[in-house]
Amino acid sequence: MITAKELKQKYFEFFKSKGHALISSASLIPEHDPTVLFTTAGMHPLVPFLMGQPHPLGKRLVDVQKCIRTGDIDAVGDGMHLTFFEMLGNWSLGDYFKKEAIEWSFEFLTKWLGFNSDKISVTVFAGDKDAPRDEESASIWKSLGIPEERIYYLPKEDNWWGPAGKTGPCGPCTEMFIDTGKRKCSPECRPGCNCGKYFEIWNDVFMEYNKKEDGSYEKLKQRNVDTGMGVERTVAMINGYDSVYETDVFKPIIDKIKELAKVDNFTHEQIRSVRIIADHMKAATFILGDERGVTPSNLDQGYILRRFIRRSIRHGRLLGIESDLCRPIAKVVIELYKDGYPELKEKEKFVMDELLKEEERFRHTLERGLKEFEKISRKGDISGKDAFLLFQSYGFPFEIVRELAHEKGIKVDEEGFNAEYKKHQELSRKGAEKRFKGGLSEASAITAKLHTATHLLGEALRRVLGSKDIKQKGSNITPERLRYDFNFDRKLTPEEIKKVEDLVNEKIKEGLDVIREEIPLEEAIKSGAQAEFGAKYPPRVFVYSIGDFSKEICMGPHVTNTKELGHFKIIKEESVAAGIRRIKAILE
Ligand code: ALA
Repeated sequence: MITAKELKQKYFEFFKSKGHALISSASLIPEHDPTVLFTTAGMHPLVPFLMGQPHPLGKRLVDVQKCIRTGDIDAVGDGMHLTFFEMLGNWSLGDYFKKEAIEWSFEFLTKWLGFNSDKISVTVFAGDKDAPRDEESASIWKSLGIPEERIYYLPKEDNWWGPAGKTGPCGPCTEMFIDTGKRKCSPECRPGCNCGKYFEIWNDVFMEYNKKEDGSYEKLKQRNVDTGMGVERTVAMINGYDSVYETDVFKPIIDKIKELAKVDNFTHEQIRSVRIIADHMKAATFILGDERGVTPSNLDQGYILRRFIRRSIRHGRLLGIESDLCRPIAKVVIELYKDGYPELKEKEKFVMDELLKEEERFRHTLERGLKEFEKISRKGDISGKDAFLLFQSYGFPFEIVRELAHEKGIKVDEEGFNAEYKKHQELSRKGAEKRFKGGLSEASAITAKLHTATHLLGEALRRVLGSKDIKQKGSNITPERLRYDFNFDRKLTPEEIKKVEDLVNEKIKEGLDVIREEIPLEEAIKSGAQAEFGAKYPPRVFVYSIGDFSKEICMGPHVTNTKELGHFKIIKEESVAAGIRRIKAILE
């Protein structure tokens, strides 16, 4: 038997011997990419380097990356689909290309993992208007002894990978499948068919294209290789298992679920529930225990997390588990993975506290929600509006409504639900934007003045108190006054308050121009512009400069010259929380 840990070690050892540097797994929550919620592949955190930025560790990299793919959520329960999985990968950043990549994949599979080459089938890109048929990859496979009849030419849907978000690096790929020896489900059955005969374990992508905003492709500056090997699937195949749930990274979780359900022999339907719980609770534990972990909510990553947790709880009920399902399973997940992902152990208390809260919240509304569902479902098929009501008022994620409907033999309008959800998302975004603007929606002349004064105040505090680390921790502006929260660990002296006021008034008198630029967020941060602590910014932002005195990322509005402000006066300085001070000030 080979364990997941042993597979990872072999992979690293093999690619190190081919000159690759080992890098560590990045967060599950991608940085600076608002088009996707989770890291879906090892290449995701490497996008800037695939685009041409030099990587500090060179042109050959190897790693294992924690990934989440929600697109497969409905397929979870069969033997091979997972939402959370680990992906091994090796990269060439403008270095080696098809020949080395394919030859090394073959060498690793046959010589290091012991797969019989007769069991390997591959697919290559069939070609279309954007890129030619990949004869080169096919002939490399042939040179390694893979016969023509086990090489399948497939179109873009199957054999083109990326970009991970809406735009970015992508290209044709060649995928490797292990034949499990099962019978073909139909004469057309081939690699890519989901019947379980062919198990995809590795994908080599030849990333030489960049997909642009308008949907067209252009050649990248450099030709890259991006590969992805699924850890759970490969371990299952090496050991001759029928499913990923038999591997050592699932077995203890499944055993725990059996123990909680107090059942030994499950029916086919119950096995599906056990697998859903095992997969979803692993994903939930990793999201909560991530270095950028989020909490359950009704939006974005928080909503996905909520769906994983609540769907697990409902499937737990189907197995007769009435209470405290999440925490015992999360504990097993943390123990299993803590060596490779120490953040899980570090955040264990947070993970447990949040799971308990969410489980209590859901159980609280579950009974009432089920009653409401009964009522609604008596009318027949469920409309998008009703599904949304169940979501918003009773916290039923969409899958739960669909599964309940399925059990009753009725349908749910998914499109209708999605439309309602989108509306809700838009409204919350607008709400967030409003909050972001610090209540500046009725942007009268006076609030614009107070807003500019806030920037002057922040900079004056940094200079008078001699600490560059002072950051805005919140701001609120009404037509009467500004309110500014910042990190500082003691009360300001009357002299300091006077100095801050004087400095702001001096800058007002100097009549400094207020200039707005629109630039990418990254550039803004690099240029040293101030940003609010913990705030989420869009990829392009406004940066407001006040003379040479202050530079800040901000949505505005502002005056055009500081002389418009009048006289600045601090009316209150107080503590709001440990290490956070609050100043209220006016313009007279
Ligand atoms: N990025 C490629 C994949 O995820 C390797 O399959």
